[in-house]
Amino acid sequence: MTISTELSKLESKRLPLVPNYPPFKQWKRAAVKETLEAKPLCLYIHIPFCTQRCSFCYYKTVDLKERPEVEGYVATLCKEIEMVSDSFDLANRPIHAVYFGGGTPSLLKEPQLVKIVEALGKNFKFFENKKQFSFEAEPLTISKSKLETMANLGVNRLSMGMQSFVDAIIKLSGRGHDEKQAYRAINLAQKAGEGKWNINIDLLSGLAGETDETWHQSVERAIETGVESITVYKMEAFANTEVYQTGVREDVVQLPSEDQELKFMEYAMERFGRANYLPWSHFTYTKDGCDKSEYIYNIWQGMDFYGLGVSAFGTMGDSILQNTSDLEKYAEIVDSGQLPLARGYNLTSLDMMVRDVLLGMKLLRLDLDRLKKHYGFNLKTLCASVLTDLELDGFISVSDSAIELTSKGILYGDFVGVTLSDYLKKSYA
Ligand SMILES: C[S@@+](CC[C@H](N)C(=O)[O-])C[C@H]1O[C@@H](n2cnc3c(N)ncnc32)[C@H](O)[C@@H]1O
Ligand code: SF4
Repeated sequence: MTISTELSKLESKRLPLVPNYPPFKQWKRAAVKETLEAKPLCLYIHIPFCTQRCSFCYYKTVDLKERPEVEGYVATLCKEIEMVSDSFDLANRPIHAVYFGGGTPSLLKEPQLVKIVEALGKNFKFFENKKQFSFEAEPLTISKSKLETMANLGVNRLSMGMQSFVDAIIKLSGRGHDEKQAYRAINLAQKAGEGKWNINIDLLSGLAGETDETWHQSVERAIETGVESITVYKMEAFANTEVYQTGVREDVVQLPSEDQELKFMEYAMERFGRANYLPWSHFTYTKDGCDKSEYIYNIWQGMDFYGLGVSAFGTMGDSILQNTSDLEKYAEIVDSGQLPLARGYNLTSLDMMVRDVLLGMKLLRLDLDRLKKHYGFNLKTLCASVLTDLELDGFISVSDSAIELTSKGILYGDFVGVTLSDYLKKSYA
């Protein structure tokens, strides 16, 4: 039968007309408000300098001993802030959270800090109303006066790298401070920012030389400081670190095995639990659940963020954008009046869903209704078989409204997120 014979049989009244999709009757007044409201934004500011090169660190930073042009970098950063705000019309977007990361932001001098914060205030109209202003600090780079300046500038979450509280381990890690200086720094920060900020300290599990005994001491001492938040990163020996050379290739320093590492994490989780430090991500525990990083929490759930400074990256809608990682080029491009953007990625709808599942799972609980509202799919149906396996293996619990990590799921870090996102990519790409 030909198409023309088929067509000749059609009755005109049955011809479908689809004027639009979804149908008009589903359109609601509330959606207008949601669309017109300026979407909140987070800002990341990168300070790429350090006072030392720690043996475990994979970040691309410049040691102050190489005499980098910090003052020049601050001037370029302020210029970039102005250009970015104009180019993307960001001034009318409410700033939700600001995160100064590095490198070591706390090595900036007080006038440099003031200059950057003033540039942010001048170019982002809603900067003053932000919910959280986080700042990374290293123990030897802070002083009473600098901390007070930070608190006066509105910093309300201070995150300090400690890594360990045992002198021998700190020394092996190539850091400049010792245990006493670590306590001194925490004490100073607690006094200078009392009532104004929450303090997080970072510990690193799996450092060279770490044993059960040294790890237990560090966890105990971290709790004794009374800080609001303790983050435990699992040390990754990336190829660009000294520890990779000495611990993985040459075997001259002793790195804990994967099994030992898992036990360290298990111990920390159990001990923190007894001290009422509760997890909000699979590596951050807070006293009575009193704190969380608004920046991390929201960008992991898809909030837009813009990265300012050399090598900084961000995500705006369906685009990932990253600045050049070359310090000289960064200054040259900004001085010539251009944005220093070097590369990006345009996310597909599937990429965004995979990202929201993978990063959202780091926050211990995936809200299925939120995902459904966003992508129109029920993750429970999409991933039914793999969810059943993960639940039987004790990594998650699943209800109609959420997928939640169990203690075992938390201990295994990104395992559940990676399993689900791999399944989504394999099944639907
Ligand atoms: C950019 S540093 C923050 C502050 C400051 N530079 C300092 O070290 O005190 C952020 C954190 O990254 C973590 N980190 C560095 N190298 C790491 C690695 N190889 N694996 C896991 N975490 C790492 C450390 O715990 C460090 O505190
Ligand atoms: S851990 Fe911190 S201080 Fe050490 S090199 Fe990395 S960014 Fe710098």
